[in-house]
Amino acid sequence: MIDVQGLTKRYGRTTAVEDLHFSVRKGEILGFLGPNGAGKTTTMRVLTGFLPPTLGKVTVAGYDVMAEPLEVKRRTGYLPETPPLYTDMRVDEMLAFAGRIKGVSRRELRQRIAETAEKTAIGDSLHKIVGHLSKGYRQRVGLAVALIHNPDVLVLDEPTAGLDPKQIIETRRLVKSLAGDHTIILSTHILPEAAHTCGRVMIINAGKLVAEDTPENLTARLQGFETMRLVIEGPEALARERLARVAGVGGVSAMPEGDGRVEFSVQMQKGRDSRKELARAVVESGWGLLELRPVGLSLEEIFLKLTTTEDPAEAEVAAPESSREAATA
Ligand SMILES: Nc1ncnc2c1ncn2[C@@H]1O[C@H](COP(=O)(O)OP(=O)(O)OP(=O)(O)O)[C@@H](O)[C@H]1O
Ligand SMILES: [Mg+2]
Repeated sequence: MIDVQGLTKRYGRTTAVEDLHFSVRKGEILGFLGPNGAGKTTTMRVLTGFLPPTLGKVTVAGYDVMAEPLEVKRRTGYLPETPPLYTDMRVDEMLAFAGRIKGVSRRELRQRIAETAEKTAIGDSLHKIVGHLSKGYRQRVGLAVALIHNPDVLVLDEPTAGLDPKQIIETRRLVKSLAGDHTIILSTHILPEAAHTCGRVMIINAGKLVAEDTPENLTARLQGFETMRLVIEGPEALARERLARVAGVGGVSAMPEGDGRVEFSVQMQKGRDSRKELARAVVESGWGLLELRPVGLSLEEIFLKLTTTEDPAEAEVAAPESSREAATA
């Protein structure tokens, strides 16, 4: 349904997306995961025919986005990062307006509004003024606008950003219920978000594809190691050396906090709880142990793991700034 071959997009001298290849099958939900500036929005704007690619071939529902952007737009629904809504219109007026623009005939309009309102669960708000709605409802109206012409393909740019946990769950459920009838590509910053909704996830960083797999496989790949955070009162170099000798430790990095305190990030083999051994190593060396806790994998660490070395044991956890550079180099 969507086919992207060698997509490169440059803005002047900035390369936002470089040589992306992927395709999305009919009825599938593909997650597009990446940090700020990774190129998610850029890719989505190209897919929806709003932005011409610099290089490469992109087809949506069989139409080339360069040659036939109108055909592409007819078959795609796009929810931009900030849904473009007229805040002084009523919801039903907004949907009617969007429907007319997207070529829904007057005859079908009423039916389309009813169906779309039901799908997005805004039936109770059709007569409300868009500007009076909560953020979550506005997001649903944005989705309804994207769906009004019953497109084959839905392109959703961070559909859950800024929503409360309850609305996030509702939006996920809604998006899932739309798959099958529609082919969906959605972007997010957050791995669990993609894992909940998507059948397949692509991770992009600095415009390049760094991994593509099912959420289960990605999570398994990423969970080979986990990170412990320790704050120690003691000598940095000696403590680093001692921690590195604890069984199950893959890498150690240190960040002095001042006052003789040092924060350590310790990469642990997963499934091996070495907290006791870490604590013993510190205390028996006569240093103060001020903190010891596991920290979740950040996206930053995921990129580090995926982009620097095959074996995370060899990759010392660097400070976030330098790891970003390492990942993008
Ligand atoms: N209109 C533009 N002109 C110049 N540079 C742009 C433009 N739009 C995006 N960029 C640059 O392209 C890169 C990718 O931006 P893009 O908005 O696609 O990222 P993103 O993955 O959507 O990020 P975010 O998570 O912050 O939404 C960034 O370096 C950005 O500064
Ligand atoms: Mg974006």
